[in-house]
Amino acid sequence: MEKKVFIKTFGCQMNEYDSNRIYDSIQKIGFKKTDKNDDANCYILNTCHIRDKAKEKVYHEIGRVKKLYSKKNKPIMVIAGCVAQAENQEMLKREPYIDIVIGPQSYHKINQMLEGFVKKQKKEETEFDTLNKFEYFDKIKNKSNKVSSFLTIQEGCDKFCNFCVVPFTRGPEYSRPFKKIIIEAEELIKNGVKEITLLGQNVNAYTHQENSKIYKISHLIRELDKFSELERIRYTTSHPRDMTDDLIECYSESKKLMPLVHLPIQSGSNRILKLMNRKHTVEDYLDVYEKLKKINSKIEFSSDFIISYPGEEEEDFNDTVNLIKKIKFINSYSFIFSPRPGTKAAQLDLIDPEISKHRLMKIQKNLFSYQLEKNRSFNNKSIEVLVENSINGQEKLFGRNIYLNSVIFDGKKENIGKVIKVKIEDFNQNNLFGRVLSNNMKAA
Ligand code: SAM
Ligand code: SF4
Ligand code: F3S
Repeated sequence: MEKKVFIKTFGCQMNEYDSNRIYDSIQKIGFKKTDKNDDANCYILNTCHIRDKAKEKVYHEIGRVKKLYSKKNKPIMVIAGCVAQAENQEMLKREPYIDIVIGPQSYHKINQMLEGFVKKQKKEETEFDTLNKFEYFDKIKNKSNKVSSFLTIQEGCDKFCNFCVVPFTRGPEYSRPFKKIIIEAEELIKNGVKEITLLGQNVNAYTHQENSKIYKISHLIRELDKFSELERIRYTTSHPRDMTDDLIECYSESKKLMPLVHLPIQSGSNRILKLMNRKHTVEDYLDVYEKLKKINSKIEFSSDFIISYPGEEEEDFNDTVNLIKKIKFINSYSFIFSPRPGTKAAQLDLIDPEISKHRLMKIQKNLFSYQLEKNRSFNNKSIEVLVENSINGQEKLFGRNIYLNSVIFDGKKENIGKVIKVKIEDFNQNNLFGRVLSNNMKAA
């Protein structure tokens, strides 16, 4: 019987990378991907635990799968990702439909678990076996051939912000060996990848020591810069404390490092940052901002904000609004604080939901206005776009400019994978629209 797998991915880019790597692995035991969610004999949910009722969402999703397969053979139901890590054995006890629960640091065991799967023999693997995981995947080629692909260089977190589950779901900080990362990057570039986004929960904390030499993310960027076929380099997500001078220097040296810095600050109030255990102040953040702007004035910033962290007063909130007005972030994520089980902040008193909603609306109004302002600044201009794909069923192409804005335009499929000039003729909150000026020519 043909083995078909359907993978549904929630959460951050690291989960997206992991889902692709899981597929690279299970292909070896005969699984082929299907795009039809009702046509698989293995159904993988790669889950996220960062906010809200993540756990309940997973059970709802399983309910949907049950309905889809009510008149068919039940697929092997696999729960992967951060909810799997956080809930482990509990999931198997609560939902008999689940067959395998596997945490992010145990993916090297997935083939063995699927092959050994016998009906009614449930399995759970949630050890933090990070070293073995990466050693296993180092031997499996990364088959991603998307124009823009991810490459995990670091995983886990030792910072323990009081609101965050990541240190519990991904485990301690681990940085992959420098050479292994470069080998994987080479594979991606051979596959036709033109943009690599280096990934880590604390990507700029990347540190690997080999023969007394210490490798940082700046070394990786410099090395990737040498690949002539690679057009663009990005990295995410960074912590302000780890924006060291060697990384900042890369913005003047590297021609491929894109001038958008995603640097989460969470709050514009030092009092709240302290309560959050963020380990940086607003002044530290502004210092990094100034240094980066000085080194390359084209650099723009995006960020993450947590609204209504327990204890946030109107004054703290106004500090955040003022910081947004100062930096004019061009694209950001903002969410109301969500208590996560097992974290220190889970015990704290929540702020009145009406006040929180009002604050979120105000923050988003500001953030969206700067986003729109930035988009307007491209109108009637010719900009560089890396063409990623064509839009399903339409004669339109999709790509991104240097700031990661999505650009939609008429064009030929031959342009996919190229950096071309596009004249922007319209825009909205999330997109730029235009037409191709000349093929395969970079804008001035
Ligand atoms: N390592 C990054 C940093 O230090 O900022 C963030 C990684 S985290 C996966 C992504 C974002 O989720 C955070 O920046 C934060 O804004 C948000 N987040 C994490 N825990 C949250 C919570 N309990 N409630 C609301 N948002 C949360
Ligand atoms: Fe979470 Fe980032 Fe804080 Fe680590 S540094 S605990 S990943 S928010
Ligand atoms: Fe979610 Fe885990 Fe990423 S909690 S944001 S999938 S690290």
